Amino acid sequence: TKQKLWGGRFTGKTDPLMHEFNQSLRYDKRMYAADIIGSIAYSKALTKVGILTKEEETKIVEGLEKVRREWEAGTFSIQPDDEDIHTANERRLSELIGPLGGKLHTGRSRNDQVATDMRLWLLGEVKDITEGLKGLIRVMVERADKEKDILLPGYTHLQRGQPIRWSHLLLSHAFSFSADLQRLRQLIPRISVLPLGSGALAGNPFVVDRDFLAKELGFESVAENSLYGVGDRDFVVEFMMWASLSMTHMSRMAEDLIIYSTAEFGFVTLSDAYSTGSSMMPQKKNPDSLELLRGKSGRVFGNMAGFLMTLKGLPSTYNKDLQEDKEPLFDVIDTVSACFKIAEGVIATMEVHGDKMRQALTMDVLATDLADYLVRKGIPFRETHHISGRAVALAESRKCQLNDLTFQDYKTLSDKFEEDVHKVFDFEASVERRQAIGGPSRPMLERQIAVLRKELQK
Ligand code: ARG
Repeated sequence: TKQKLWGGRFTGKTDPLMHEFNQSLRYDKRMYAADIIGSIAYSKALTKVGILTKEEETKIVEGLEKVRREWEAGTFSIQPDDEDIHTANERRLSELIGPLGGKLHTGRSRNDQVATDMRLWLLGEVKDITEGLKGLIRVMVERADKEKDILLPGYTHLQRGQPIRWSHLLLSHAFSFSADLQRLRQLIPRISVLPLGSGALAGNPFVVDRDFLAKELGFESVAENSLYGVGDRDFVVEFMMWASLSMTHMSRMAEDLIIYSTAEFGFVTLSDAYSTGSSMMPQKKNPDSLELLRGKSGRVFGNMAGFLMTLKGLPSTYNKDLQEDKEPLFDVIDTVSACFKIAEGVIATMEVHGDKMRQALTMDVLATDLADYLVRKGIPFRETHHISGRAVALAESRKCQLNDLTFQDYKTLSDKFEEDVHKVFDFEASVERRQAIGGPSRPMLERQIAVLRKELQK
């Protein structure tokens, strides 16, 4: 009769509901390859310490490869008693190669096994996510490079502030994502710590060579403490924190574009490919893609916060609560991967209306430049700010723009105004004056683009 792998001390049966409640195979099977790679490395380590002969190792490795091919081909047949990916793979291995399969788990526990699988699997996902994020940044940079001519108001408090270039705004979001790229790289050394060889909790009595295992599996270091090795899930939390921050950037960018796509702004039009309609209002074209990008940030943050709650208050080492690390992590990975792809498509295909952006530039956004003009004539900024403010008030009372005020008007506000004051009312010139690093002038945009391109090459 079939037995659970741990069935020896049991006489009673598991309640069927409990079996369902306990089993994680339906979601952890996605780590099947990591589990097999870990087992192959472990069988080699067992040979090195004389637990397996070379022939036994070969048979085990061949069996494991066969199990892997079954998963790949979709022919792996899940059995009712399979609890998780570790028990399923081991059960199948023993079916294929007989009792020898039972030697593989010598000195190993699912506790060090699952922690190893998770880290190994996540390291692979981090590579894919890095590529996804780079793809997004790349389209943002390419677009910014092409659309440097487009001017629009920059906003603070959602009120028009100063003229900037559209590319400058787009690149501001790209820089947030570029910092995410750096942060993601910095997570790797803490994910790449090998738990295998920690046993259930108290280490490995067969003295497997853990440095060898780390090398075989491509880990940067070995968990120095076996209790820590099996009990730590900070790498899961940290990755989800990273994702939460990156999704916050995503959400803020989406919000900008949602506002800009309203008829009231009319700055951008999303392509049909990333919009949807209304079941009732025939005229509607809704920016659902952007709203989902904004909305999914809440879901990612929720996964992170939820699992942090699970960890809080757990006693040392392995507790089954830790199985709850998987669904939130998997969901976060799936969500951010999809978001990077969708955002890339949205940005690559949306229409940008330079004329509408330009129309939104009213002369009042040059009030700071007007104050700066007087600074260059020797007046302290605090005074020039006040004088420029009075010019704004005067124009407002006459229901005209700053450049409609006469030279005489300006003379009454300050005798430092000269005929050249009209030169202030030039948006392009305003933007180009901002030649300090970080500004929206052309040379500084070129610089930003170069910095981001360099980051993308790393
Ligand atoms: N499925 C378990 C998990 O995901 C594997 C470890 C189980 N270990 C144990 N001693 N019950 O965490």
